[in-house]
Amino acid sequence: MSASPTATPAASATGVALRVEAARLLVAVLDEGRSLKAVLAERLPGLADPRDRGLLEAIVFAALRHERRYAFVLAHWLSKPLPMASAKDRNVARLLLVGLAQLDALGLPPHAAVAATVEAVKQLGREGLAGLFNAVLRKATREAWPAPAALAVSSSHPDWMLRRFAIDWPDRVEVLLAANNSEAPLWLRANAPRFSRAALAERWRAAGIASEPGLAADSLRLVERANPATLPGFAEGAFHVQDLAAQLAVEALDPRPGLRVLDACAAPGGKTLGLLAAVGATGEVLALDVDARRLERLRGLVVSLKPSEARFEARLADAGQPAGWHDGRGFDAILLDAPCSATGIIRRQPDIKVHRREDDVAALAALQAGLLDALFPLLRPGGRLLYATCSLLRTENDAQIAAFLGRTPAARGLPLDARFGFDTGHGSQRFPGEDGGDGFFYALLERRAEAPQVSPGAAGSSSTARKPPPAMR
Ligand SMILES: C[S@@+](CC[C@H](N)C(=O)[O-])C[C@H]1O[C@@H](n2cnc3c(N)ncnc32)[C@H](O)[C@@H]1O
Repeated sequence: MSASPTATPAASATGVALRVEAARLLVAVLDEGRSLKAVLAERLPGLADPRDRGLLEAIVFAALRHERRYAFVLAHWLSKPLPMASAKDRNVARLLLVGLAQLDALGLPPHAAVAATVEAVKQLGREGLAGLFNAVLRKATREAWPAPAALAVSSSHPDWMLRRFAIDWPDRVEVLLAANNSEAPLWLRANAPRFSRAALAERWRAAGIASEPGLAADSLRLVERANPATLPGFAEGAFHVQDLAAQLAVEALDPRPGLRVLDACAAPGGKTLGLLAAVGATGEVLALDVDARRLERLRGLVVSLKPSEARFEARLADAGQPAGWHDGRGFDAILLDAPCSATGIIRRQPDIKVHRREDDVAALAALQAGLLDALFPLLRPGGRLLYATCSLLRTENDAQIAAFLGRTPAARGLPLDARFGFDTGHGSQRFPGEDGGDGFFYALLERRAEAPQVSPGAAGSSSTARKPPPAMR
C-alpha cells in the first residue's frame, strides 16, 4: 500500500500518549522478550486515571491475543514490511498492531481509533508515515480482511502449540483456541473462615457490586470487572484475587485441621492462604519457593490476610533437593503446584503464545518428574500429594502421572469427583473457560499405608535433621 497524506479528526493528547505507550509495551514483550505481567506491573501504576489503565491494558492484551493474524493481514496490505532495525522503527511497527487491535478485537469507534493512532506515529517521530498509517487503518475499517487459511495463523497460536493441542485434545481444538483468545473474568476468594463468601457477596451487593458464587467453596466472580483494591473489604484482607481453578487445587487436596502440610512450589502464595485456612490453628504449613521476590510476595500476603493461626514458615529453598531443608518428619499432605508451560492460562497471559517454546515442555516435564520423585517420599504412609499444573498438555499432566505411578510402587492414584474436570485416567483436566475458570490439571496421589516410614525414628531428632530422606524405590 502506498502512503497518501490524509487529514484525520483531532485526537486527545492522552489518547495519543496511550497508543504510543501501548506500542512501547508491545515492543517490550514481542521484541525484547519481557513478560507482559512484568511490563504492566512496571508501567500501569504511572497512569493516574483507571480508565486509561483499562484502555492501555485492553489494547495490549488484544494485540497480543491476535498478533499472528494481524501480522498476516499487514503482510498482505503493506507493499513491504516496515523496518525493525532501530528502537524507533520497532515502536512504529508495533503501533500498527495497536491500530488493528482497536478496530478489530476492541471494536472502538473507527474515527477516534484511527485519529489517535495516526497522531501517535507522528509523536513517535515518523510524521512521514502518517499517510501510510491512515491508509492502512482506513482500509481495515472499510474492507474485508484477508483470512488466513492456516488455523494456527487465524487463531494466532504458534504451530507447535496447535499441533500439541490437536494431538492431546482432537475434539476440542477450536474451542480451546477460542477460549485462549477470550477475556478472563475476575475471580476472588473470600478469606474464609475469617470472612464468609455469603457475607462478602452481601456486602458488595449493598454497595452496588454484583458477584456470583463459583464451584469452589469460597469463590466469587465479579459480574463486571473492577479494580479489586476498590472493593469493600480489600483493606481488611477479606478476600484475594485467585482464579476458580486455582482455588479448586486446595479443595482437591482437602487438608484437614491439624495436619502438617508442605506447599512445595508456593509463591506468590494464593494456594498457601487456602492451605493455612484449611489446617487451622492446630495445623502447620511449610511453604517453599526458589524465587526470592515471589516468596516475599507470599510472606506479605500471609501477613496481611492472616488466614489462620497455623504454624507457618516460608523458606527460600529448592523443593527438589530436600536434603537442604527437610527435617526428617513426614508430611500429612503435599501440594505440588508445579512449574509448567502455563498453556491453561493463555487468556490471562497471552504472551505465553509468544514466549513459550516447544523445547520448554520437555525441560519442564523433566523438572516436574524430579519434583515428584523428590517430594513423594516425604509423605507419611497414608499421606496425600496433590500434583497440579495450569497446563493443557498431556506430557505435563496425565502422561507425567502415569509414568510416576509406573516407577513408584508406593504410590496409588485416588479418584477426584467431576468438579475437578474431565477424567484423563490418572487425573482430572479442566479447560479454560469451563465454569469461568482457567485450564488446570489435578492428580491426587496417596502413599500406601504399608510403605516404610520416611525416616524411622527421625522425628524431632536434631542429629538427622539435615539428612536426605531415604529413597522409596
Ligand atoms: C505455578 S507457580 C506456583 C503458584 C503458587 N502455588 C500459588 O498458588 O500462588 C510455580 C512456582 O514454582 C517455583 N519453583 C520452580 N522450581 C522450584 C523448585 N525447584 N523448588 C521450589 N519452587 C520452585 C516457581 O518459582 C514458581 O513460583
